[in-house]
Amino acid sequence: MKVRSEVSALSDAKENAVAVFIFQDKKGLAQQIAALGKQLGEKLQAAVSLKDFTAKEGELLSLYTEKPIASPRLFLVGVGETEKVTLEKLRRAAATAAKTAQSMKVGSLGIEFPPLTLLPHSIGSSAADVAQSIVEGAFLSVYKYDKYLTPDAEKKRLESLTLFTAEKKNFNEIQTGARFGEIISKAVCHARDLQNAPSNEIYPETLSFDVQQTAHDYGFKATIFDQRKIESLKMGGLLSVGKGSNHPPRFVILEHIPAKGNGKTVVLVGKGVTFDSGGISIKPSANMAEMKMDMSGAAAVVGTFQALAEMKLPVHVVGLIPSVENMPSGTAVKPGDIVRHFNGKTSEVDNTDAEGRLILADALGYASKFKPDVVIDLATLTGACVVALGHLATGMMGNDQATMESLKAAGEKTYERVWQLPMFDEYEKMIKSDVADVKNTGGRWAGAITAGWFLKKFIGEYKWAHLDIAGTAILEENMDYAPKGGSGVGVRLLVEFLKNWEKK
Ligand code: BES
Ligand code: MN
Ligand code: ZN
Repeated sequence: MKVRSEVSALSDAKENAVAVFIFQDKKGLAQQIAALGKQLGEKLQAAVSLKDFTAKEGELLSLYTEKPIASPRLFLVGVGETEKVTLEKLRRAAATAAKTAQSMKVGSLGIEFPPLTLLPHSIGSSAADVAQSIVEGAFLSVYKYDKYLTPDAEKKRLESLTLFTAEKKNFNEIQTGARFGEIISKAVCHARDLQNAPSNEIYPETLSFDVQQTAHDYGFKATIFDQRKIESLKMGGLLSVGKGSNHPPRFVILEHIPAKGNGKTVVLVGKGVTFDSGGISIKPSANMAEMKMDMSGAAAVVGTFQALAEMKLPVHVVGLIPSVENMPSGTAVKPGDIVRHFNGKTSEVDNTDAEGRLILADALGYASKFKPDVVIDLATLTGACVVALGHLATGMMGNDQATMESLKAAGEKTYERVWQLPMFDEYEKMIKSDVADVKNTGGRWAGAITAGWFLKKFIGEYKWAHLDIAGTAILEENMDYAPKGGSGVGVRLLVEFLKNWEKK
């Protein structure tokens, strides 16, 4: 989808449909009715009087226009009460407009930038954030993974989105925000495509090719380690999980070198299990297909690099993607096996389905090479995290409260919310092994936390946060601006985190 921003009055916008956000309470509504001009203002007034449209969140009224409005259709989109409007409500309103446009086979949509004076102080100060959010909501809501569907001539995609404003005053900010929104949304959709791609298309080798191509297209570095190189580095976790599959493992290193950095380095680690059958400790067949998305952490890292390279963020970021396919076979790793990881520590494989932590252990050890200030890993790590938080929040653990607070703030702003889980010392003994330094399972309870504790055993001398995205990455139902399937979670969160990181 093409995104533009322009200075234009509502009446001059030429798109096939134009959307105006309407505020529910008297203050906002009166202003919006006046702004619509005589005829349309009267129509809105009538709709409100008849209670056909109340400007509640999620409501949309489609009107056919008359002169002097150039566009044939006008969408009035409710955003609720003026004082309660948030960036997230704007994303959702934009999503409602875009989805309606697409279902009406309208190829181009204009959205009027809402009057900043009506927005609450908390968000009203930044026209760029508002513009970015509107673009995100619209862009992300019309995503569909349709690569393998025979094209349907009846359907029409929304091809262009224009954010317009009659006031010149904030136009530069609006343009910048809209551009960021476009870059970030494109990156999120790339992450979604990687997640949704079936595992007969995306396996470690092809995942690494995609990273290489993306690096080439967007201008960051990518280095791929093949099985032999991984062997020479003694990454035992990656080798043991990978050895049950006909697709050999890969370890991919991404690097974004800014023109002018602040001398600090962030390392992002993404779990890249391209299919998780469970291995010898095989999973039940119900929902096993979802496990093609067990590389969602890797997808988030790739998407983040794409966006931060295109945005030219002034921060040095390294990405690490350990990638394997977890399969049962005669050569597969077995319960009871003992693995030696990159940093020399050993782990007992109690359950071959707890494979993510085994490969992340190698990557977290390798991260030390870059002398990072902070390391953030993203992984669809535990079903227990989904049980605890559902699909609405990412589980977070770590060793540095300030880093976690920054992630929380980025989560609130982007609405990719994170929720901290405790890492009490007492949990550590649940993963004690009699025969190795650590065991890869911690029993039935607190599964997300014992997984976090396992990772903690492998981190180096750096600040660290772990994000368990098992619930937020894989959606079982459509959300406001994310259809069922891969959500691309992590991209918007990390870009926001990195945008602020530069200021430290
Ligand atoms: N990839 C799964 C976790 C998962 C489950 C992600 C559901 C998304 C949705 C992970 O590798 C796994 O199998 N974890 C096990 C760990 C257990 C064996 C200790 C789990 O959560 O059951
Ligand atoms: Mn597993
Ligand atoms: Zn897994």
